[in-house]
Amino acid sequence: MSAPDPASPTCHIQLADDPLQTERLGELVGERLQPGDTVALSGTLGAGKTTLVRGLARGLDIDDPDAVSSPTYLLVIEHDGEIPLLHADAYLPKKLEGFLDDGGLEYLFDPDKVVVVEWPERVHKHLPERVLWIELSVTAEPGRKVVVRGEGAGGFPWVADLETILDLG
Ligand SMILES: Nc1ncnc2c1ncn2[C@@H]1O[C@H](COP(=O)(O)OP(=O)(O)OP(=O)(O)O)[C@@H](O)[C@H]1O
Ligand SMILES: [Mg+2]
Repeated sequence: MSAPDPASPTCHIQLADDPLQTERLGELVGERLQPGDTVALSGTLGAGKTTLVRGLARGLDIDDPDAVSSPTYLLVIEHDGEIPLLHADAYLPKKLEGFLDDGGLEYLFDPDKVVVVEWPERVHKHLPERVLWIELSVTAEPGRKVVVRGEGAGGFPWVADLETILDLG
């Protein structure tokens, strides 16, 4: 998330110590995504990335959201649904870069699908200009801190209202 544009809609969320909240956030985001959207999902080991993607898959109405797992050694896992979800992982950046250089870019950034990229900062130069950034962090207090930011022209205006929509009460 380097050099953010101050005009980008941004939302800061504190999630309680409950994985269901992470999943619910993912679901709300998934319900709002459109074919061709790219989600860059960053967060340290164990921050809740897979949990969030599972919720995202639920929100997108993917056929089997519980099949979501970490794609680290597979690079990209495709989940079927009305809007298919491509779940990519750049934890091993040389592997993903090699794949992207060998024609994978067209496969990954498909206008008919949604793509979520974990460890996106490692393949930053390959990301499109319009990206929904989600950064998960483990903080001193229980739960998770999340920053969501829609970057790029006309991108993701609903982000500004996400905290209200989430209603974590
Ligand atoms: N809001 C939350 N509060 C407490 N625990 C949470 C929260 N969200 C997720 N978790 C838990 O954190 C753990 C790690 O979650 P998850 O596997 O989704 O993280 P990850 O970022 O994908 O990890 P990895 O980097 O190892 O792939 C799981 O036990 C999950 O249930
Ligand atoms: Mg994971």
